[in-house]
Amino acid sequence: MKIAMVGSGYVGLVSGACLADFGHDVVCIDKDPGKIERLDAGVMPIYEPGLAELVSSNVKAGRLSFTTSLAEGIDGAQAIFIAVGTPSRRGDGHADLSYVYAVAQEIAENLKNPAVVVTKSTVPVGTGDEVERIIGAAGLPHRVSVVSNPEFLREGAAIGDFKRPDRIVIGAEDEFGREVMREVYRPLFLNQAPLLFTSRRSSEMIKYAANAFLATKITFINEIADLCEKVGGDVQDVARGIGLDNRIGAKFLHPGPGYGGSCFPKDTLALLKTAEDYDSPLRIVEAVAKVNETRKRAMGRKVLEALGGAEAARGKKVALLGLTFKPNTDDMRDAPSIAIAQTLQDAGVDVVAYDPEGMDMAAPLMPGVAMAQSTYEAVTGADAVALVTEWDAFRALDLDRVKTLARAPVLVDLRNVYRPDEVRAKGFAYSSVGRV
Ligand code: UDX
Repeated sequence: MKIAMVGSGYVGLVSGACLADFGHDVVCIDKDPGKIERLDAGVMPIYEPGLAELVSSNVKAGRLSFTTSLAEGIDGAQAIFIAVGTPSRRGDGHADLSYVYAVAQEIAENLKNPAVVVTKSTVPVGTGDEVERIIGAAGLPHRVSVVSNPEFLREGAAIGDFKRPDRIVIGAEDEFGREVMREVYRPLFLNQAPLLFTSRRSSEMIKYAANAFLATKITFINEIADLCEKVGGDVQDVARGIGLDNRIGAKFLHPGPGYGGSCFPKDTLALLKTAEDYDSPLRIVEAVAKVNETRKRAMGRKVLEALGGAEAARGKKVALLGLTFKPNTDDMRDAPSIAIAQTLQDAGVDVVAYDPEGMDMAAPLMPGVAMAQSTYEAVTGADAVALVTEWDAFRALDLDRVKTLARAPVLVDLRNVYRPDEVRAKGFAYSSVGRV
C-alpha cells in the first residue's frame, strides 16, 4: 500500500519509518528543504533511539523516501496522513490549526485518486469535520474519506510504542475509511494490538482525554509527595501501595519536578479551551495545569532550601544534571529545568549544567547558565548538585568522586533515583521528592 506522511517531525517521521518497516511504500513529505536534504543524507532532525537505523534500512529497501513536494508525495497514495504541528496559539492557548488546514487545502488541490486522509496530529474535536469540509469544497470526482487516528507514542520510546501499542484508535465515519485503515495497520492487527473503531469526534476526544488523565495522575502523585514530606511518609511506597490496585495501575505514578514536553502542557491547555468554548468546565484539568506550572519553580526553591535558604544561596553554585523534559530525547519543550534554573538565577545562584543530548537545544533557553562538557566538570566546585532528569548516565554517579570534586556534598534528587540511606551513608546531605 502506498502511504503519504505529510509532516516529518517527531510523529510523522517515526510513524512513516515504522509503517515502511511493516512493508508499506511510504513517502514522508516536509516543506523544509533543509530537513528533507538531511533526511536523504541519513541525518535525523531529532534524537530518538533506533530511528536513524530504522530510516536507513527502509530507505535502502526502497520502501521509504522523502520529498518537499506534496503533490508528488500524495500521488497514488491510498492513505495520506497529516502529521504536522499543532502548537499552542500565542495569546490564548488554543491549538493552532493553521498548518493542518493548509495541508488539507493543498491535498484538495492536488489529489488525483481515491484516498483516506488521516489526521494524526493532535487536533481538537471537530477538526476532522473542517478538514472534510475543505477537501469536499474542491468537488473531487473520486472518493475521499477523512479519518482520525491519534498517536500515543512517547519520545525516547517512540519506535517501540508505535510498533507495540496498547491500542490503535480509529475514528471513521464510513466503511471506506475503516477498510483502508485496517489495511494500514494489518501488521499490527496480526500482533493482536486492539483496534478501536469509533466516530471521528470520539477519537479526537480520546487523545486529549488520555493525555489529560495521565497529566492528572502525575500531578496527583506529586501533591501526595509534598504531603508525604510533611507527614513523614515515603511516596515511593505510597505509589507502589496504590498502584498495585489494578483499578489505579502502577504507571505514571512517579513523582518528580512536574511534567513537561511537547504534549501534556500544550494538550491540557487546548482541552481546557475546548471545554470553555462549549461551556462544559473541566475543573480537575484546570487544577492540574495550574499545580504543574507552579511546581516547576517550587522545585527551584527546594534546591535553594538545600543550600540553606534563599539568603544563604546567593553567590553559591549549583550543578544541574539533566535538562531535557525526560531522558532519551533532546527535547527541551516546557522542560522543568528551565524554570528551576530561572528560580536559582533569580536568587543570585550561579548555575552550571550538563545534559547528554539536550545542551544545544537548552543553551538559548537558559541564558547565563554555563554548559559543562561532562557530569564531573559540572559538579566541580558546586555547592549543591541537583539531579533534574533521570538519564541512565546519572543513575550510577561515582558519589565519592562527586564528593571530592564538589565544594559541598549536597545532592537534591528530583527524580528519586537514589536511596536516601545509601547517599547519606556516603556523607551527603540528601533531599528527594516525597521522602524524608
Ligand atoms: C506523552 C504521552 O505519554 C504520549 O502518549 C503522547 O503521545 C505524548 O505525550 P511524552 O511527552 O513523550 O509522551 O513523554 P512521557 O513519557 O509521557 O512523559 C511526559 C512528562 O511526564 C515528562 O516530563 C515526564 O518526566 C513526566 N512524568 C511521566 C512524570 O513526572 N512521572 C511519571 O510517572 C511519568
